[in-house]
Amino acid sequence: MRPQVLIARRIFPDIAVRLAEHFDIEMNEGEPPWPQDELIRRLQGKSGLFITGSEKIDAKLLGACPDLKAICAMTVGYNNVDVAACTARGVRVSNAPDVLTETTADFGFALMMATARRITESEHFLRRGEWKQWSYDFFAGSDIHGATLGILGMGRIGQAIARRGHFGFGMQVIYHNRSRLAPEAEGPLNARLVSKDELLREADHLVLVLPYTPESHHAIGERELKLMKPTATLTNIARGGIVDDAALARALADRTISAAGLDVFEGEPSVHPGLLKQTKVVLTPHIASASIPTRRAMANLAADNLIAALTGGTMPTALN
Ligand code: 8YV
Repeated sequence: MRPQVLIARRIFPDIAVRLAEHFDIEMNEGEPPWPQDELIRRLQGKSGLFITGSEKIDAKLLGACPDLKAICAMTVGYNNVDVAACTARGVRVSNAPDVLTETTADFGFALMMATARRITESEHFLRRGEWKQWSYDFFAGSDIHGATLGILGMGRIGQAIARRGHFGFGMQVIYHNRSRLAPEAEGPLNARLVSKDELLREADHLVLVLPYTPESHHAIGERELKLMKPTATLTNIARGGIVDDAALARALADRTISAAGLDVFEGEPSVHPGLLKQTKVVLTPHIASASIPTRRAMANLAADNLIAALTGGTMPTALN
């Protein structure tokens, strides 16, 4: 009998066809993710699961789905998966790193620029028909070129943003990370490792690109926002929960910092009402990796992992 695989969210039809060449597949054709009990019910008898960032994989689900052998995510972040619990049950897990690095960095840079140069705020003003005249400080924002770019979390995506800042815009790059970059990575970027508090104090534009873990929960809260320059911007393309959204809404209202660009939110798809009220914030619905070629590459990588895991091959990007 062919292995049975559940595809938890609608994916590119041809990638579903590719999986169907190897497995009997069942795919969620609808838009909302399945509730947890339905996911568990549909997983009975299935040995493979294709997931996105929407599914929560915990010990309870694993205990209720004894046939599962592999869970393959089409995302780089995997804070929704309890990898240790999977390992304990002999379930293989993979994520989808690398293929989304440049696309996500493009978006992070665009969000930072839109935030600094007040692009959405001024567009809304224009659309409301309020543009009557010019003045010297009319939607005047802050510069990107020559400014200090602070990066919290200097992994693959952080380094790709640093490259854009350094080579494209002449920015000074400072970063805070668990470990220092190798000299061959740090040198060409002229990047300087600093403490977290120095990063907060010195950055003109702070970009968050670190994984969400219990340690990074509310890594940016009231104390950290107060350390930032009142002219600084904050961009988060990492995960909701890294920023204390209530504290950020207050900081924007009090002008503790100048503006924020946010692609991810605590409790998304809900957005803190205090953030929705602010004008100096650019809000996007978790789309940093959303280009068609990149989403295809992410889904194909998850499919490669699933096929390898269930046919005795080597998973290209296994996490356990
Ligand atoms: C996903 C992401 O689109 O890969 C990740 O970790 O955050 C994005 O690329 C997101 O997780 C939605 O499922």
